[in-house]
Amino acid sequence: MDIVTNLSINPRVTRLNHTIEQIANTAVRSWDRAMQQAGLGGRKGYYDDEHYEFEGGEQHNLRTKHYDKSLRLLWKAEEHAPWSSFRDCTRDEETMLAMTKKSLSKEERALRTRLASKEFAQELDQHYTMRQKQAIVNILSLIGHGEAYAWLVSTELLNEVRSTGGRAALTMQVLEEAKHFVVLRELIRAFNCPVPRMNAWEYVLLERIYKSKGLEKFFGMNVVVEGFALSLFGMMSPLPGLEMLKLFHRDESRHTALPGNYLKEFPLSRWQMSNPANRMRRLVTVLAALPVLLHVEDDLAVLGIDAFDLAGSLARKVLKLSERVGFRLPMSYDHAGLILNKLFNAYCKSTREGFAERNFLLSETTVGDEELELEQEIFAQVA
Ligand SMILES: [Fe+2]
Ligand SMILES: [Fe+2]
Repeated sequence: MDIVTNLSINPRVTRLNHTIEQIANTAVRSWDRAMQQAGLGGRKGYYDDEHYEFEGGEQHNLRTKHYDKSLRLLWKAEEHAPWSSFRDCTRDEETMLAMTKKSLSKEERALRTRLASKEFAQELDQHYTMRQKQAIVNILSLIGHGEAYAWLVSTELLNEVRSTGGRAALTMQVLEEAKHFVVLRELIRAFNCPVPRMNAWEYVLLERIYKSKGLEKFFGMNVVVEGFALSLFGMMSPLPGLEMLKLFHRDESRHTALPGNYLKEFPLSRWQMSNPANRMRRLVTVLAALPVLLHVEDDLAVLGIDAFDLAGSLARKVLKLSERVGFRLPMSYDHAGLILNKLFNAYCKSTREGFAERNFLLSETTVGDEELELEQEIFAQVA
């Protein structure tokens, strides 16, 4: 269609309007620059409208490694948890699902139909005792509450990161944390056991991270808490009924890789990396995560898992990740590992009969080839 314009406008008025705008533009931007230089505020939006880009540039790599990849790996709860209340598949995806169902063998179809019904809860009853179910709920709810804070923290971090690619990456994390929170909540509730509140140690840890300043949130959330979640998902996904935790594990592995990829483009200053107050705060954050695990020592034991194997496996990964990203601690990472191992052994010696000392930092609690391979990519330098 051709565009026909026969509207009459006054070119002189148009020119005048444009001139007024240019004067106003110079005035408001100069004012904001001056206020910024004086430390009195200035422009709030870190957006470079002159280049149609967020400040920090395009950062194509960050976008493809996180935003594109997240979209490519986006999973739908309706497909993986057909028993849940989620109806998030598109019409095309529903058609694909129906076609897949048709190609299933008789037994496979029966299994799927069974799981698609309200009988999922009964399915869980067949696999677990009441105590085991409560143990799973107690452990999973640690992450459930963590997901709520991951959602809160990533929303704030979204306004701390620079560049179009960086913001696109964080936007996907916000979306995935929202999905983790709502989907995990339904999975936990399907166990029909009371869901505990956050324990005091987790409360202190998560509040502390939420209140941490600027990019330090990357350390508390993406390194410590997501490292924690990654380890728990990697440990529990082989349990019957919890297979979908593999998908959570895959998302969290991307989140733990984000600080490294982001800080490669926008490195921390020497001062941010190494100032004594930051180093000490990080150490306290790592130490604050330990009593959270102690609180579920009995629940882990019910599932045949030693809390200190998990703590050791987790500590090794978190320390290596911090080292790679550049979040320094008051001591070397090796030294921190030694201290933690001593602490673990001292606790076990005083509380367990016939305990023989061992190096918990060599433990590996993640199971499943796919999960181990993914973790290997992130913690490439982990022994
Ligand atoms: Fe998450
Ligand atoms: Fe996450």
